[in-house]
Amino acid sequence: MSRVAFHELPAAARQAVTVEVGRITAVRTVGGGINSAIAALLDTETGRVFVKGIPADNPQVVSQEREIAISPYLPAACPRLLWHVAAGGWVLLGYEAVDGRHADYTTMDDLTLVLAALAELQEVTAPDGLGLKTAEDRWGRYAEGGQAELFAGDTLLHTDFASDNVLIHRGRARLIDWAWPTRGAAWIDPFMLTLRIMEAGAPAVRAVSWVQRVPSWRESDPKALGVFAVAVDRLWREIAEADPVPWKVAMSGHAAELRTFLRPTL
Ligand SMILES: Nc1ncnc2c1ncn2[C@@H]1O[C@H](COP(=O)(O)OP(=O)(O)O)[C@@H](O)[C@H]1O
Ligand SMILES: [Mg+2]
Repeated sequence: MSRVAFHELPAAARQAVTVEVGRITAVRTVGGGINSAIAALLDTETGRVFVKGIPADNPQVVSQEREIAISPYLPAACPRLLWHVAAGGWVLLGYEAVDGRHADYTTMDDLTLVLAALAELQEVTAPDGLGLKTAEDRWGRYAEGGQAELFAGDTLLHTDFASDNVLIHRGRARLIDWAWPTRGAAWIDPFMLTLRIMEAGAPAVRAVSWVQRVPSWRESDPKALGVFAVAVDRLWREIAEADPVPWKVAMSGHAAELRTFLRPTL
């Protein structure tokens, strides 16, 4: 989705934001991410706020609804959702602004911070009553021999550790972009992080050596990891075939490499 500037929003949408934050004194559109039609830092008379949003008739509005629903359950590693409004044909979410930069998974410092944020998240049990997707729903149809139950668990998973979904600020990593909150086995998030460390240039063996610091990964059943690696490889292959843009093709390559590393006999 191409990004629009805040001042291009309909007046009713801008007015609804002003009701929340007061007078807006400066606006800066931010880079990173592909789904939000607007992503901007606003300086306002009540402080700085980050606003993201999409048109209310866009099918992806469901991912914003998921993001709103999960926000009360998120650990301190995630910026707070302050308000959300639907006005002027837009759905807009206002977050605690993090004046940081995207994570750089080639550096030990950033990886250490990301693992600390992940450790916080691993403690969170997925809440009931939100109709969260389960890992079995999301990846089960790619599981060999219908072994989707190997992916089950009660941990709240983020599942998208793209480096632009992690902001580094004041010696902390903050996890953003809860478009895909999922209930499942705790080792799934370190798996997803592994792929993104590979995206930043690490071979599988080095990426895996980082997530070996995560207890749920160390304690996971190697068979479950292997079946999941096959499922994720199949999914990325499908994504890359449907839309062969370079980053998707590259992710598919990393998923294949990780599968070979974790499940060398297949
Ligand atoms: N709380 C925040 N404070 C500052 N910048 C943010 C914040 N949340 C997101 N961003 C910036 O906006 C970009 C897009 O936000 P994100 O939630 O990832 O949406 P999407 O990827 O769906 O477009 C992020 O990559 C980041 O650069
Ligand atoms: Mg994002």
